Amino acid sequence: MEASTFVLFGATGDLAKRKIYPALYNLYVDGKFSTPFSVIGLGRRELSNETFRAQVLQSLHSFSRRAALDSLQLQAFLQGFEYSVLDVGHPEDYTKLLKHVREREALLGLPENRMFYLSVGPEFFEPIAANIQASGLGDTLGWKRLIIEKPFGRDLKSARALNTSLTEAFKEEEIFRIDHYLGKPMVQNLEVLKYSNPVLRALWQNRYIANVQITASETVGVEERAGYYDKSGALRDMFQNHMLQLLMMTAMQLPKGSTPEEVRSKKKHVVKSLRPLIKEDVALNVVRGQYTPGEVEGRAVAGYTSEPGIDRSSQTETFIAARLWIDDPLWNEVPIYIRTGKRMKQKSTRIVIEFKEPFNDSHNKNKGDHTPNLLIIEISPDEAITLQLNTKDPQQHGELTSVHANYQSGSSSDVPEAYENLIFDALRGDATFFAHWDEVELSWQWVQPILEASEEGLLPLQAYRSGSHGPDGSAALLGGTEWWLDSED
Ligand code: BG6
Repeated sequence: MEASTFVLFGATGDLAKRKIYPALYNLYVDGKFSTPFSVIGLGRRELSNETFRAQVLQSLHSFSRRAALDSLQLQAFLQGFEYSVLDVGHPEDYTKLLKHVREREALLGLPENRMFYLSVGPEFFEPIAANIQASGLGDTLGWKRLIIEKPFGRDLKSARALNTSLTEAFKEEEIFRIDHYLGKPMVQNLEVLKYSNPVLRALWQNRYIANVQITASETVGVEERAGYYDKSGALRDMFQNHMLQLLMMTAMQLPKGSTPEEVRSKKKHVVKSLRPLIKEDVALNVVRGQYTPGEVEGRAVAGYTSEPGIDRSSQTETFIAARLWIDDPLWNEVPIYIRTGKRMKQKSTRIVIEFKEPFNDSHNKNKGDHTPNLLIIEISPDEAITLQLNTKDPQQHGELTSVHANYQSGSSSDVPEAYENLIFDALRGDATFFAHWDEVELSWQWVQPILEASEEGLLPLQAYRSGSHGPDGSAALLGGTEWWLDSED
């Protein structure tokens, strides 16, 4: 990987401390961050380099996945960090920044490769990108890249407007849109799982799959993010991005060794093939919910509208479930069920594939007694792959029983975190696990009728008790089958 300068906007923010510094450190320790390197942290407050480095150090102690930090390595790592004060709206601050970047490049002999990471609110994306362009920071002899995080707009129109202005300063191939779900190791494993296992590859189609269920349930509530969350809700916060990305990763089919362009084109095909929703029919296919008081993990918790900072009459959804169809020969007539919510019974992100009973087997006298074959892919907090099979139970007079063939991934402190994978990929210019504009635009396009139906009162909110599996309507959406594993936890 070529050496570069890492310019971090929002260097004193929460994301930088919790995720970005630990990720950079882990890459450094693993030899994946080329040395020498220059990280220039930016913020509005005046800070000396020493104070900034002390903050970075503190964040590593608090949030690194590694139990023991080597002090010599830490010292060397921190030498790469310097701080500059910057007000995003002040063009002269970018001129000073350019000078600082160049001084470090000259001192360390770095090529003019510049990574701009915008760990700031979305309202700052446009002015920062424009100022990078205007100041000359973006005129490099090497590469320049921009990393941004969701939200990419609030709806189709604003997302398009944002993209138009960003692409005035950066080309599409220079923009790396982080969706941290795409950095999760088990999500990155999905493609390999399919193409490296002929058994799964053969079964990955509507002839054998009865339905697909994608769940991201959380036990946390709105926490300290009332201001942001009450204006977003689960549809914008989780569904339009993480959940639809999980769907694309599950449904696409690729030959081994595909290029990032092929991956993107297959993902685009999936989201483009989603059957569009008609605003008037949204309520038949989508359920919105909001949590009421209840008990989560043995603790009594307040309802959403009693949370600090939330409007008492808020109609924002904290849960959303939907039934989707992919109009494609391989997926025709396979319902895809997706749900995500806060204050649910357990923290679990998982994909469950329910297989059909494809053969009308009149010799099978136990037919109808057994549970379907399931493939359960657990993404977080545990990483596991389980295949549920049926077998005879010798202790129960040969009756059928379900058994689980299971693979559990290693301890989580050994597994690179999402941000580590993603920053590493961005530094080497591999865009496979980033959201391309086409995917973002098509996702907004699919979601838009739901936004409109909600605003026009066509999709009423359903209450659900904190600590439950969501509103009753979510189970009803499945019409006949069930959300697998709900009854087990
Ligand atoms: C974020 C959302 O993108 O993802 C949060 O803004 C949510 O509301 C979080 O809690 C969930 O991420 P994870 O990795 O804990 O599943």
